[in-house]
Amino acid sequence: MGCVKFHLLLLFLTVLMASHAEAEDFDITKHGATPDEDITQALSDAFKAACDAPTKSKIIIPKGTFPLSKITLAGPCKAPVEVEVLGTVQAPADTKSFVGLDSWITFSYMDGFTLSGTGTFDGQGASAWEVNNCHKSQECVKLPIGIRFDFITNGVVQDITSLNAKYFHFNVLGCKNFVFQHVTITAPETSVNTDGIHIGRSDGLIVTDTNIATGDDCISIGDGTKNLTVTNVICGPGHGLAIGSLGRQAKEEPVDLITMQHCTVKKAMFGVRIKSWPSAPGKPTVSNIRFEDITMEDVSTPMLIDQEYCPHNLCNLKSPSLVKISNVIFKGIRGTSSTRVVASLACSSGAPCENIEVGDIDLKYTGKDGPALFTCSNVKPILSGKQDPPACTEQAGADLPAAAASA
Ligand SMILES: *[C@@H]1O[C@H](CO)[C@@H](O)[C@H](O)[C@H]1NC(C)=O
Repeated sequence: MGCVKFHLLLLFLTVLMASHAEAEDFDITKHGATPDEDITQALSDAFKAACDAPTKSKIIIPKGTFPLSKITLAGPCKAPVEVEVLGTVQAPADTKSFVGLDSWITFSYMDGFTLSGTGTFDGQGASAWEVNNCHKSQECVKLPIGIRFDFITNGVVQDITSLNAKYFHFNVLGCKNFVFQHVTITAPETSVNTDGIHIGRSDGLIVTDTNIATGDDCISIGDGTKNLTVTNVICGPGHGLAIGSLGRQAKEEPVDLITMQHCTVKKAMFGVRIKSWPSAPGKPTVSNIRFEDITMEDVSTPMLIDQEYCPHNLCNLKSPSLVKISNVIFKGIRGTSSTRVVASLACSSGAPCENIEVGDIDLKYTGKDGPALFTCSNVKPILSGKQDPPACTEQAGADLPAAAASA
């Protein structure tokens, strides 16, 4: 009897110890990886082992340069998985191997996933930007997103660098409780569609202490994004911090509860912006949006609602956007603009903006051909605090500031 009890005790202790064990490490070099050779198989094997581990585990990509062709690492896993990158993970330079694929790396269907380390994902995007013709044709070559996170709950991306993605750097879809912190995203100002972080159909996200320099939006927020907080982000060059573009597709979900605070946008085309497509079927609502304490340094248009978003004349302006924007606060937006229209609320005649608060605006135009302008249409903002320049002195329209100058 005593012997059976002793064995039961041992079994119990073993189970107890296993569940309290330290994170198990899976170094890819122990799964066949060597520097400067393709690690696709080794990373896939290491992930399989980590994903099967009963306790939380860490895959390590050590110092060195590791080419990676393309990979999808999908759960569900038995316990949380971390991928720690210390070296450089390098994409193929060509785009041929990505035909029909929408990403270079995809992490998906995990509960508890961390991507960490001081390493770099190098998308080698230069040749892709050359073949990107999406501004000319709607049936353009689809280029791969750098890293996709699909359907991850409790995700963290921290410390890593994403360099020169072929298309968007990071894409977040269907995620819940997801944090980017202390991340660096870098691509040249001239690179095409290299959005820093694109988020859609996700709930409960934080982007903080992150530095984004790129050729398109630093952060872009697609339909179905709920409860996102962006703080202490430095953005620029690029196209700024954007909600949208929205409305282009028929079935888009609401965007709700987005806060962007304590950020700096520098040498960018736009500062903070909400954009929606005219002559488009989608009509998601956009509500409970707060832009607060944003410093602009040499930004073309620092503050903008643009419901006539129609790049490359891909649409007909005669039929207004159906996207309804309400409960938006712009507060403490200050700094310098390189064009005369420093702020514009160009709301839709088809769905006028409601309950837009504008407070403590201090935006200086650095040019000499006239005073700074704050234009409006289809909106009556609620004003408070400082208003420099005064709001809504001119009608918002595509032909400003020439029209304003002649008025
Ligand atoms: C929003 O998300 C944060 C962080 O993920 C979470 O702590 C908070 O409870 C959420 N708030 C709402 C209203 O859902």
